[in-house]
Amino acid sequence: KNEKLLLLRDAIDTYPDFPKPGIIFRDIFGVFRNIAALRALKDLLIEHILFLEVDLIIALDSRGFLFGPLISLELGKPFLPIRKKGKLPGKVVQRSYELEYGEETFELQTQYIRKKSRVLIVDDLLATGGSMEAAIETVKLTEAEIVECLVIIELTGLKGREKLGVPVHSFIQYD
Ligand code: PRP
Ligand code: HPA
Repeated sequence: KNEKLLLLRDAIDTYPDFPKPGIIFRDIFGVFRNIAALRALKDLLIEHILFLEVDLIIALDSRGFLFGPLISLELGKPFLPIRKKGKLPGKVVQRSYELEYGEETFELQTQYIRKKSRVLIVDDLLATGGSMEAAIETVKLTEAEIVECLVIIELTGLKGREKLGVPVHSFIQYD
């Protein structure tokens, strides 16, 4: 398991001063160019999720979509997207959140969620936690239950998990 984590960590690219001076950008896409690391990540994900009792996988627009359907296939449970506003047809619930510059709104279709569904929320990375917090609030509007928020990378120095109030699991941490 440690070897897999090392492989994964090595495959995550780091870009200083992107997208702005002072930001150290951690890029998950390096993992998709390195097949050994991609397999390691798949194994780590499977090992972790097999113990989760969930009915539904929900992932965040857009990089959460890289992992949601994969987890869905492994667990044999359906996948739903949370999308930035104006992209999902039908009845949606929505929740706005603050970004570094301005505001964004998440939407989720309600017709495919049962009350009390046990939901796993997935994204690539937890930074300030603002996106994940909005996703949690969006899911809660449907009266589903959140079992866990699962991310590949956590920027621990930003203390995002402290604002979430639900269990959070990450595989790779950076201060
Ligand atoms: C990134 C990342 C997370 C979020 C983390 O997505 O994929 O979803 O930011 O930041 P936070 O914890 O401070 O909210 P972004 O909003 O850049 O959208 P994208 O996935 O469409 O690139
Ligand atoms: N990498 C990718 N997405 C992000 C980051 C990062 O370091 N910080 C906030 N969103």
